[in-house]
Amino acid sequence: MSHKQDLAREYQALKDTLLYHARRYYALDAPEISDAEYDALFKRLLELEGANPELISADSPSQRVGSEPLSAFNSVAHRMPMLSLDNAFSEDDLLAFDKRIRDRLGIDRSPEYVCEPKYDGIAVSLIYENGKLVQGATRGDGSTGEDISENVKTVHSIPLQLNGGDVPSLVEVRGEVYMPREGFKRYNAQASTKGDKPFVNPRNAAAGSLRQLDSRITARRPLEMCAYSIGVHEGYPLPSTHGEVLQQLSQWGFMVSEHYRVLEGVEACTRYFDELAEKRESLPYDIDGIVFKVNRLDFQDELGFVARAPRWAIARKFPAQEEITVLKEVEFQVGRTGAITPVARLEPVFVGGVTVSNATLHNADEIARLGVHIGDSVAVRRAGDVIPQIVSVVPSLRPDTARPITFPEACPVCETPLVQSEGEAAIRCPAGMSCQAQLKESIKHYVSRTAMDIDGLGDKLVSLFVDLKLIRSLADLYRLRADVLSELDGLGKKSADNIIQAIEASRYCELHRFIYALGIREVGQATARNLARHFGSLEAIIAADIDALLEVEDIGPVVAQHIQAFFATPSNLDIITQIREAGVHWDDIVIDESSMTLKGKTIVLTGSFSTLKRSAAKTALEALGAKVASSVSKNTDIVYAGPGAGSKLTKAQELNVPVEDEDALIALLEQHAE
Ligand code: IVH
Repeated sequence: MSHKQDLAREYQALKDTLLYHARRYYALDAPEISDAEYDALFKRLLELEGANPELISADSPSQRVGSEPLSAFNSVAHRMPMLSLDNAFSEDDLLAFDKRIRDRLGIDRSPEYVCEPKYDGIAVSLIYENGKLVQGATRGDGSTGEDISENVKTVHSIPLQLNGGDVPSLVEVRGEVYMPREGFKRYNAQASTKGDKPFVNPRNAAAGSLRQLDSRITARRPLEMCAYSIGVHEGYPLPSTHGEVLQQLSQWGFMVSEHYRVLEGVEACTRYFDELAEKRESLPYDIDGIVFKVNRLDFQDELGFVARAPRWAIARKFPAQEEITVLKEVEFQVGRTGAITPVARLEPVFVGGVTVSNATLHNADEIARLGVHIGDSVAVRRAGDVIPQIVSVVPSLRPDTARPITFPEACPVCETPLVQSEGEAAIRCPAGMSCQAQLKESIKHYVSRTAMDIDGLGDKLVSLFVDLKLIRSLADLYRLRADVLSELDGLGKKSADNIIQAIEASRYCELHRFIYALGIREVGQATARNLARHFGSLEAIIAADIDALLEVEDIGPVVAQHIQAFFATPSNLDIITQIREAGVHWDDIVIDESSMTLKGKTIVLTGSFSTLKRSAAKTALEALGAKVASSVSKNTDIVYAGPGAGSKLTKAQELNVPVEDEDALIALLEQHAE
């Protein structure tokens, strides 16, 4: 066989392998090989194509990188109009839809429906001739769209060639191109570091990315497509149900929704809707409702269309997660650590299932990024339990009376001039606990369930006690008296006694809870636990310098700095002393230094181990006093590497850090366990 034939064979085999794995990855979400293995195969393909350009075929995975920019999009006339869907906004609307269907078809029982998520992206039409992707178009006005052929070719879940031998001479596949949330977040994060304008939501991101004249840009955007129907077709008899259409699409290599179901009866449809509404937030992409389609295609034909929508389908929408409303005022709140947060007061608006009248504006940078003025119409988004956010401004609706938002120069509560530390977005009131707002927030945090768990002291009472000067510091909590409290309006003897009892009960606590309750910046529950476990006593934590703090699991330079600064502040130490004098105590954790045979050693574990679990090895090493770090540096004493170790191993070799294998690690642990 000639060299040329050999090459062509290798090329075909390589291409088939890559196409197979790309389909496992992109369409089926079930990869069989690692990304690195795929990349290596892809690199080989590029090498072959580079050396033998005559081999390159249109369905090669290398053809997804985009091509030279166009000067404009051509228009495409849809041979079959791309319709939209009727909307249902309630269960009643859906019941009415089902009744219309039964009446028209003259049947007593509801028919089977296919239920599919309604993807929030941009509709596309893809034309395949003899299995080959020849055209991609947007929906446009439904009858004419834009030719985005070059762009759709860059979307990995769109097959360039239909899978299977017996493919139609012509088929149009329709579906929704969308940007998964993860990719959207990643894109926006990169855009803001590069100074590019971020997208408002994943739908706009998908539309903006797909309508690029330069398809090389589209190629870099994380887009996906979910296929949901067949349009024009020749040389291909349609199956008898929509469910089978979806199966056919999947066999051709398209991604179809993993959540689609064929259900009988409208009640089952309502249950499905409720289930997906619950799951909505946890899906990796945005959906804005559920589409219900009559399953039988002969029924669909019989039902036909009205105006711009089919009679056989309906989209029941979820409550909108974004609505437009007016920004009436901005107030500035002072947080526990003094950070000033601008809070938007809004014309109340129903969004994401609740009425929203406040939204966070985060910080001064965010106000500047949005370019928002008081009086502006703004898009407010509330998804799940997330705090409502202002996502964008509608500039065309800005009234003449709109005025810019001015960030205060002094604390709105204690009037201390505000400060901004270098490299930090937050602007803070530096007055600490002498600022009433910070004191209130600190006390709320101290008494909260996950901190000292002092029951019965809600936010309102904390605020009242601070206003009445009954509490001027955390230590004053322990000086509250039942007889004084019971005199207060609306409190009464019983509630007063309960509060005092809860405070009493909190005097004996655990060290990690007390550390967390202090409200040190960036010290959450996990860090507080690590500190307690590592040092064993509050005295040891107070005495720790930055280097000692850096020895603690998961503590980096910034957190170490905050901890050190907190305990270096005399007023903080004073309050701690007062609290302890008031009887707050805990059992110190005994750290048996004699067993800490690996104290001072920094160890890195990498690769996979066969006998030991990495997490178990880490715990065992830490119990012996070692610090188990996640990256290799010149301070690393030893690296234990199992098979599959990558960059950490290379780094260790570069830095001449000793490297040992799993057996050596087991031997070490056994030796020290004796
Ligand atoms: S079927 C003739 N199924 O919703 C009916 N549409 O409001 C064609 N969409 O333009 C649409 N997910 O862009 C259908 N599973 C789904 C869908 C879906 C999203 C979009 C589509 C359509 C719009 C109609």
